[in-house]
Amino acid sequence: MEVVLAKSLGFCFGVKRAVETVYSQTGKDEDIYTYGAVVNNEEVVEDLKKKGVKVIENREELKKIKKGTVIIRAHGVAREIYGQIESQGLKLVDATCPFVKRIHEIVVRESAAGKRIVVAGNPGHPEVEGIIGWSETPAVVLESVEDARNYTQKDNKAICMVSQTTFNYNKFQYIVEIFEKKVYNVSVANTICNATEERQKEARKLAASVDAMIVIGGRHSSNTRKLFEICREECAYTYFIQTLDDLHLELPKSVRLVGITAGASTPNNIIEEVQNYVRINF
Ligand code: F3S
Repeated sequence: MEVVLAKSLGFCFGVKRAVETVYSQTGKDEDIYTYGAVVNNEEVVEDLKKKGVKVIENREELKKIKKGTVIIRAHGVAREIYGQIESQGLKLVDATCPFVKRIHEIVVRESAAGKRIVVAGNPGHPEVEGIIGWSETPAVVLESVEDARNYTQKDNKAICMVSQTTFNYNKFQYIVEIFEKKVYNVSVANTICNATEERQKEARKLAASVDAMIVIGGRHSSNTRKLFEICREECAYTYFIQTLDDLHLELPKSVRLVGITAGASTPNNIIEEVQNYVRINF
């Protein structure tokens, strides 16, 4: 069987960099922790666990750690966490994605200049909690167009608006328009990262040109589910799998070309395994 991989698939630049940073810290004679799982992938987290990397889930757990290295993952964290790590005498390795770091820098600068920070994003998401944790004054998070419509402020403070890196571009534009109509003094920094969109575009293109499509990713990963939906729109034989073990392809004889794409938390070795298996066994 001929197999073609989507041009951009699997780990984005920031996650790849963070995962490599964690691996580069292993094998030393010291305790290694990541603040939150470095990537939402059970296989990777399990492999790192075998290499002695532990996951800290929250501030309370962090407080109990006496020595070792704490790695900040790609999503980034609030400024306060840096302070806590340092005050406990722990070593800090920062694997925050540079695109997220840029948002932190904007938030620090603009809030220090007296602006109110408004973030378009998911309020419970760690990246958003990290972003608002760099604002010198209380920040506002808007999740939807409706939130933007309902927003009011009593003072005439200028606003700086940023977005979570994975926020939907059209929704962001709408929110900005609503704010501009309300005649607030708004400066906008579009901080959406195009890695997700790029991956979706590539998946659609590939799915339209193959006979069957395999989408690899976590069952609970929303970006993988989105990839699956996009591919299914273009290709009737689209399969969603987590690892090679789930692959039960029942393909018609006419199928000659299979495409593969993968969600943002799928490591390369799983992609390669599936690719080789399909190539040899079909
Ligand atoms: Fe990934 Fe960084 Fe973009 S973590 S999705 S490359 S902001």
